[in-house]
Amino acid sequence: MHLKGNELGIVVSHRKPPTHLSFIFQLNDDIDVKVGEFVEVPIGKYVLVGRIVLITAYNEYLENPEFIRDHMQRGLSISARFPIDIGRWRAAKVEIIAMFSGDRIHPPNIPPEPGEIVYRAGTEVLRKLLGIREDGLFLGTMYGNSNLKVKINPESLVRLHFAVFGTTGSGKSYTVGVLVEELLEKNFPVVIIDPHGEYFTFREKNDDMSAVAKLSLLGLTTRGYPTQIFYPSYGGSGNLSLNFSQLNTDAIAEMANLTPVMRDLLYLAMRNLRDSGIKKITPDLLLSTVNEIASKWGFYKKTTLTLSRNISLLKELGIFGTGFNPKDIVKPGQLTIIDLSGDIEEHIRRIFVGAILQELFNARKKNLIPSLLVIVEESHRFAPQEEDTYSKTVMRKIAREGRKFGIGLGVVSQRIVGLDKDVISQCGTKFILRIDTKTDLDYLRPYLEISSEEDARRIPYLPTGVAMITGRATRYPILINVRPRKSKHGGSFI
Ligand SMILES: Nc1ncnc2c1ncn2[C@@H]1O[C@H](COP(=O)(O)OP(=O)(O)O)[C@@H](O)[C@H]1O
Ligand SMILES: [Mg+2]
Repeated sequence: MHLKGNELGIVVSHRKPPTHLSFIFQLNDDIDVKVGEFVEVPIGKYVLVGRIVLITAYNEYLENPEFIRDHMQRGLSISARFPIDIGRWRAAKVEIIAMFSGDRIHPPNIPPEPGEIVYRAGTEVLRKLLGIREDGLFLGTMYGNSNLKVKINPESLVRLHFAVFGTTGSGKSYTVGVLVEELLEKNFPVVIIDPHGEYFTFREKNDDMSAVAKLSLLGLTTRGYPTQIFYPSYGGSGNLSLNFSQLNTDAIAEMANLTPVMRDLLYLAMRNLRDSGIKKITPDLLLSTVNEIASKWGFYKKTTLTLSRNISLLKELGIFGTGFNPKDIVKPGQLTIIDLSGDIEEHIRRIFVGAILQELFNARKKNLIPSLLVIVEESHRFAPQEEDTYSKTVMRKIAREGRKFGIGLGVVSQRIVGLDKDVISQCGTKFILRIDTKTDLDYLRPYLEISSEEDARRIPYLPTGVAMITGRATRYPILINVRPRKSKHGGSFI
């Protein structure tokens, strides 16, 4: 079963004898193996699986500094007088992750015996360890083992949410692109909140020659995907308006930049309108109610005037209309892009995000649309840690309750420090690309299910397009080379 070429060495009892949690093995000469690689040791009816965490190079002839100094003083090379090639050996320390008996996985509880043979972990064992399924989403190949296609369970991502983090240019949007391609091919609908307008190229085939060549090596071909793009109505353009009646009072208050007193007045007016059973609340109706309520409750004239003016200004922006039907936005196998790259004020942009997500959530609750995934690029802008925004309230709600209603959330950010901790902690799986700022890494560290410090230390040095997957999607943190895109990537335009 084990190819001779995969034999790496022999378990030894040098200094620290093996335990059920870790062991040291002596590496065969000329074996090329790296820290982070997985190994397996068959013992009886079990196969132990572990990961190399440290490699040490020894040489008994070079242990004594006095001896070495003596030889240096004689002006002779040591290798001329002593067989130092024979004295050299390398030891690898392995942390045991799991034990398999057949397909069953057990926690480690038996130490390997000194003398047992250590092999490079086979594809089969890795598949079992990582819970890889043939029908999973093919995101890439394992870093350092291109034979292993990493295919992950779509359920774990969509039901338990995920995050994609990394410095600008590390490959976040590209990774999102690959994930979306896979979901669309499974006929799953995806909505992307796209503040940079970088996803519209999904319709087109990838025309990057090196990517096309790599795809064919993987047995894949280029293609485009059904894509629909919505632009918020603003200043006379756009095809996605907000229905004023459906807006939550918090959203209106935030959009209109209200002070606490003005908010009070707005709340009273809105409550009055809702209590009187009015279904269709328009900005004009709200304005007249505000005036009524203000005189009844004795609000200052200035408060009333400013509130009225701010609401009238909102009306002028041209964002209100018939609203949108979630059924038009969510269609099986289709990517829907909400392109927010236009010249819109940030607080209005946030309201669009909040209102769209809220409508989709409501529609899922009533089962009016199929289960879906919503991906929010630049998540720190819509769920900021330091500010309470309507969009954050909705994103938190989906992060906490989406699972029950079949709405998955994917958050993408390069400014992790600015992103709401509640949202981060609800993301079951994290795709971590290169992060080179210490503050971002420190902020994220408590949320990483990383079993060894070694993994966290690699994050700043990850090449573009290499992602660490940690959390629910794989049982154990792994690194992957994200596969080439089948459709065209648009990220480089920004
Ligand atoms: N898996 C990958 N394979 C090939 N090229 C990639 C990969 N990931 C990223 N790139 C390259 O890096 C560039 C930046 O990636 P992108 O995903 O747009 O970064 P960001 O993290 O800023 O979203 C892309 O335009 C693409 O050229
Ligand atoms: Mg990007």
